[in-house]
Amino acid sequence: MTGGYGGADIIKDCTIGVDKGEIAVIVGPNGAGKSTAMKAMLGMLTIRKGHVRLGDKDITALTPQARVGEGIAFVPQTSNVFTGMSVEENLEMGAYLRRDDIRQTMAQVYDLFPVLKEKRRQNAGELSGGQRQQVAVGRALMTRPSVLMLDEPTAGVSPIVMGELFDRIIEVRDTGLAVLMVEQNARQALEIADRGYVLVGGVNWREGTGEELLADPEVRKSFLGG
Ligand SMILES: Nc1ncnc2c1ncn2[C@@H]1O[C@H](COP(=O)(O)OP(=O)(O)OP(=O)(O)O)[C@@H](O)[C@H]1O
Ligand SMILES: [Mg+2]
Repeated sequence: MTGGYGGADIIKDCTIGVDKGEIAVIVGPNGAGKSTAMKAMLGMLTIRKGHVRLGDKDITALTPQARVGEGIAFVPQTSNVFTGMSVEENLEMGAYLRRDDIRQTMAQVYDLFPVLKEKRRQNAGELSGGQRQQVAVGRALMTRPSVLMLDEPTAGVSPIVMGELFDRIIEVRDTGLAVLMVEQNARQALEIADRGYVLVGGVNWREGTGEELLADPEVRKSFLGG
């Protein structure tokens, strides 16, 4: 994918992929284009060159709404819950495109995040940062996606909450979803990554398995504190 916001290209020949049952992680410095690459995959950005594929299908020309209909769910970096709505209403909003019975999916989300069931009548705006991120992920899962995209799901949460959230994300992956996430906590994220990408200046600077990147001296020096 090559493109940006109308001016200079932000991402340049950037290639990102994730398979079913896999967690792929994108790391890199601030402003590297990580969120931009995510937006390009979701169709919130028109790419000038390149393609976005979902399975055998070329979805480059589809609107974001249509891509959600095709099975992509996205949790943005900021403003990812409706703070004035209850937890349950947030989950219902996630299922907005569905016309079938959503109760089973909601029960699955509550199984994954039991605290949300307890707090289902509370306003999402009253929850802790970690709980809000659970609402955001739960809301995304309500579409029953095949690809779950998360932009910095652990931003602003404690290390313990981060670990718990990663454990839940592993559970989601193990149900057969493809999980693609951008992470600022590079080391911890690469530890759970089947595949990792280091984006610098909008280009793929390094890629490999999580293990390979964690062992790469250059990656360690630049992004993992040595
Ligand atoms: N809506 C926008 N319009 C114009 N330029 C933008 C827009 N959003 C981001 N940019 C620019 O694109 C570049 C990449 O930004 P992006 O948000 O993709 O980086 P990032 O890797 O996600 O950074 P961070 O780690 O801070 O979230 C930056 O130079 C940024 O200023
Ligand atoms: Mg970002």
